[in-house]
Amino acid sequence: MEPYRIKVVEPIPFTTRQQRQEALKRVNYNLFDLRAEEVTIDLLTDSGTGALSAAQQAAGMAGDESYSGSRSFYRFHETVTELTGYAHILPAHQGRAAERILFSSLLEPGQISLANTHFDTTRANVELAGCEARDLPSPESRDLDSTQPFKGNIDLEVLRATLTGPDASRVAVVVMTLTNNGGGGQPVSMENLKQTAALCRQYGVPLFLDAARFAENAWLVTRHEDAYRDHTPRQVAEEAFRLADGCMMSAKKDGIVHIGGFVGVNDPELAQKCELLLIATEGFATYGGLAGRDLDMMAQGLNEVLEPSYLQERADIAGYLAKRVRAAGVDIIEPPGMHALYLNAGRLLPHIPPHNYPGHALSCQLYLEGGIRSAELGSLYLGKEDEDGNPVASAPYELVRLALPRRVYTRSHYDHIGDTLEKIAKDTHSVYGFRIVDQSPILRHFRAKLEPVPVAR
Ligand code: F0G
Repeated sequence: MEPYRIKVVEPIPFTTRQQRQEALKRVNYNLFDLRAEEVTIDLLTDSGTGALSAAQQAAGMAGDESYSGSRSFYRFHETVTELTGYAHILPAHQGRAAERILFSSLLEPGQISLANTHFDTTRANVELAGCEARDLPSPESRDLDSTQPFKGNIDLEVLRATLTGPDASRVAVVVMTLTNNGGGGQPVSMENLKQTAALCRQYGVPLFLDAARFAENAWLVTRHEDAYRDHTPRQVAEEAFRLADGCMMSAKKDGIVHIGGFVGVNDPELAQKCELLLIATEGFATYGGLAGRDLDMMAQGLNEVLEPSYLQERADIAGYLAKRVRAAGVDIIEPPGMHALYLNAGRLLPHIPPHNYPGHALSCQLYLEGGIRSAELGSLYLGKEDEDGNPVASAPYELVRLALPRRVYTRSHYDHIGDTLEKIAKDTHSVYGFRIVDQSPILRHFRAKLEPVPVAR
């Protein structure tokens, strides 16, 4: 059961099918353009959408809003230093700010960043620094149905080959994303992390963690990696941070705050560069674009997120939803992770070709039938067509992500999601495909306008 009870509630909006149909038309079938008050269950993201605890709210009230050297900074600094062990901790307003500060300070144009999988903003910040972001996902990750527990791992063979191959001198950093959000929210094993760290040390390349979901990764390690079964999630997390040379963190996920993040580094020269950029672009080094109350709430959240009862329930609820979804006849990326389920829309809607966006079609249907907002991760996001709409490139899989906000929805909300999917899966042939009528040159999924098109049966 949930290891908490509810003290503050917020009504969720209910709409009719007709209202949702009209809303979809009004926003040109782009769910980003809905008003949140038109959404009943919002699974767009688990980022910044968690519920604060009473202790976090209290910590926020005790926040010290001094411009520099606030008590809040020192409380935050002590918590993060204890957790990560890094010599220099710099607050930032969210994950991508931490990425920009780290990569602008660490990378020179023409260099390469290697990762198990770069998250979109991580990739964008590597590219903005004039560098190449190269993903080296493990071979098991390609089989969506495989229940291998550590499909988030980096491919160690390709990593070694790259670190000794013709591009070796250009590799400036290795990033390990915990858990691997771009790769189905799958975790990374400590064994894989240790071997990565050893290779990085051997070839003199710094290793950084993208620690957005470090606690969920640690929990899954205690469940599935034999050598860590008697460890606490905190012990695993502390060890993981210490295997790397630093980290960037979006605290909007496993910090359970609405805004916040940080950079941690050991190298004093790199820390100094980052600090100067932080002061010039985010805020002074003891607040980094955040209020004192934010720093205090983040420190409290970083401790709460490692409580085993919290992590156990979070894993259980994801598993519960996974069971409901499978029973409805919808396949997911197996095994279910903790922050999201990834629905295999391509398999559910084989009558919709990739360039009529089966993932987007399922996403719109989830909204129409159940007022549920989700995110497409398929050919609308990753594909490309020519000017006449003819396919140029498709995504490897047509997926829909149901992200699960922390401590927000209860089992009856999850049942509603299961019921809605069941209804959709019973009548997939009534689901239409889509066509883009207007799009931006980059990041098109955020702003694209679409219209439904009937597809051949
Ligand atoms: N790294 C990972 C693995 C992420 O999932 C995110 C954000 C970021 C970095 C960037 O952090 O949003 O605080 O700037 N992921 C959100 C999501 C947006 O929905 O998965 P941010």
